[in-house]
Amino acid sequence: MTSRLALLLLAATALTTGCSPADTQEAVAVPPPPVFSQRGETPVADNAPAPEMASYPSKGTAIARDFKNQPPLIPHKPDYPITAKRNTCQGCHAIDAKMDVQVTHSSHYLADGTLNGAYYFCNECHVAQADAVEPGGNHFAAPGYPQ
Ligand code: HEC
Ligand code: HEC
Repeated sequence: MTSRLALLLLAATALTTGCSPADTQEAVAVPPPPVFSQRGETPVADNAPAPEMASYPSKGTAIARDFKNQPPLIPHKPDYPITAKRNTCQGCHAIDAKMDVQVTHSSHYLADGTLNGAYYFCNECHVAQADAVEPGGNHFAAPGYPQ
């Protein structure tokens, strides 16, 4: 099927350009990407087993940064609500919070000690990192960005 398609493509190229296939760049048959369902083999009408729960690195563990100025990754679940009225991340991370955690970086505050609005939505920059099954591969590397 694919080789027939490649032949058709070659013929079409030859027709439109008036060149023989040998003169043109050879058409490369690209294999179709593998398609699979995250439900696995379970038929649509059946209940698939629940996916594994994400597990976050234990509290107190800072995740090593991969490049300079990287906003540190969140080592815990990230679903603390941030609404117009309340930023619940600040309940633990505010400079004056009574928690023994890394305080919000001083660059996120204005000179008068209030949180800079540009830093209000923490999840714009900080994302959680969980140990979970990767649906695809992740080969992220940060060459040229030493810490
Ligand atoms: C219940 C308290 C609590 C809340 C609420 C909370 N955190 Fe945390 N956070 C922690 C603890 C504990 C750690 C572990 C590392 C430490 O001691 O700072 C941590 C670590 C982090 C780190 C890593 C710091 C570093 O230097 O590596 C980031 C970033 C972070 N939290 C962002 C957030 C964001 C964004 C929110 C809101 C969505 C949030 N946290 C809500 C307790 C909390
Ligand atoms: C515009 C992007 C951005 C937003 C929004 C933001 N941060 Fe950050 N944050 C950073 C960067 C970048 C760093 C790393 C700074 C550094 O180490 O020089 C950082 C560092 C931190 C750290 C580590 C501090 C340390 O001393 O190591 C904590 C904790 C943190 N942010 C919490 C928060 C919380 C809580 C919010 C929301 C109120 C927030 N950040 C919003 C970009 C952001």
